[in-house]
Amino acid sequence: MALGAPTSVQGRGHKSREHSHTRVAILDFGSQYTHLIARRIRELGVFSEVLRYDTPLAQIAANTGAIVLSGGPSSIYADDAPKPDPGIFELGIPVLGICYGMQATAQALGGGVSRSDTREYGPMGFAPNSGHPLFDGLSDNLQVWMSHGDEVASPPPGFEVIGRSSDGKIAAIGSDERCIYGLQFHPEVIHTEGGGRLLENFVRQLSRIEGSWTPRSFVDETVEDIRNRVGDSRVICALSGGVDSSVMAVLIHKAIGDRLIPIFVDNGVLRKGEELDVIDRLRDRLGITISVVDAANRFLAALSGVIDPERKRKIIGHEFIRVFEEEACREGDIRFLAQGTLYPDVIESVSVKGPSATIKSHHNVGGLPERMDLELLEPLRMLFKDEVRKVGAELGIDADILGRHPFPGPGLAIRILGEVTKERVAMLQEADAIALEEIRRAGLYDDIWQAFVVLLPVRTVGVMGDERTYEHVVAVRAVHSLDGMTAHWFPMPFDVLERISARIINEVRGVNRVCYDISSKPPSTIEWE
Ligand code: XMP
Repeated sequence: MALGAPTSVQGRGHKSREHSHTRVAILDFGSQYTHLIARRIRELGVFSEVLRYDTPLAQIAANTGAIVLSGGPSSIYADDAPKPDPGIFELGIPVLGICYGMQATAQALGGGVSRSDTREYGPMGFAPNSGHPLFDGLSDNLQVWMSHGDEVASPPPGFEVIGRSSDGKIAAIGSDERCIYGLQFHPEVIHTEGGGRLLENFVRQLSRIEGSWTPRSFVDETVEDIRNRVGDSRVICALSGGVDSSVMAVLIHKAIGDRLIPIFVDNGVLRKGEELDVIDRLRDRLGITISVVDAANRFLAALSGVIDPERKRKIIGHEFIRVFEEEACREGDIRFLAQGTLYPDVIESVSVKGPSATIKSHHNVGGLPERMDLELLEPLRMLFKDEVRKVGAELGIDADILGRHPFPGPGLAIRILGEVTKERVAMLQEADAIALEEIRRAGLYDDIWQAFVVLLPVRTVGVMGDERTYEHVVAVRAVHSLDGMTAHWFPMPFDVLERISARIINEVRGVNRVCYDISSKPPSTIEWE
């Protein structure tokens, strides 16, 4: 996994790029919404960074124009409740406490927080003090999203109540003199009316931070940063044809040219033509030389007879590392391994909850950096996915490459239920290509988060001409999602389904039935294995 090593790399006196702008520091107390606060503030063009709640004061203050204390699952009265360093309220930096962050602020500054055994959860009316700059441009009555147990019973000395919930409870407090505020609800969630404006008021009007993050400034600064750090050394990276690794490679190539060695491993379970097409285009349009390693037979041999999904994943991950390592050794003399780690992974690693067990791509070549004594280079580690796409556009990468649906590292192997054979891969590749072609033709590709076809391990009876058939079934899957963590099945128009089904049954030998998957996540997952 990509998360272990970066700290040691950053510890080598490398000045990280993100500190050149005045930032908003978000102290994480464990809320499931912390990353959303960072996102909303980034959308204002202001750099924001999530830090653990117990980050040393000097580090919190460095280049920080405002501090946000996130929500959190604890009761402020719990024995192990995370508490902010009271020193943050003496820095003269504006502070906004959200939910638990408001209670922690109130308690630290001498206010009263009452304990509650029940949680208040969901939408609620909120009446802000009209005329207060925090609520500038908002209506007198807002629907907001609450999720809290404890509540502020009396504001700290010098603070006033600046908003109440519809049942008359204190829902916002503030001291204009100290520029410290607290909200009982979550402005960062989409269900809070005017939440974005509220954060904007705090960041722009009250904290006076101007947005200066642009894709262009990111590219310029990161290119310079990479040049300084890499010097005359060489950098190796795995290219998957996905958005993150493509943008990463183009960015590093812009900085150090052919001293970047991108390697694409054909593992034999790729979509029909798609990944290789991306590789060709990166090579032709952007002049990046990419080594393509055809390891299809090797992967298929290792997968032979394997049915268990987790074993398939392990075999592919393991094989990938071996192939990549062999290539890296062949190249010799390399100092850095570049990876397309994104900010959500980084947030996870700083979260008070600790890194959670989310799925990581095998393209994060786990274990290799230590074994081969490589330093990690992760130029996208401060970006969210949408920001990566903007940077990609700035670098001149085609919109259709940047808009591609996610594709899992283990590829079609986890979409072929049962054994993975060359024949079954070919069958699925054809069916999958037809489904995507029809989805694109119907103009639906960009409305869908991920669409694909799954080959099932059952056969059904059919009739073709005068003959009875006994052939395979495929399932078409398409979902809406924001981040892959939850998903809803996509309401595919019947005429599109009909065309997909008719074409697959007519054109793909061995398939005589097509189903559409109408399950959402949870309780189903997006992939079938
Ligand atoms: P699930 O199936 O867990 O998938 O709902 C959520 C997202 O993760 C992708 N996925 C993977 N990506 N290696 C990957 O690189 C994997 O083993 C893997 N499993 C699932 C999936 O395609 C979806 O976008």
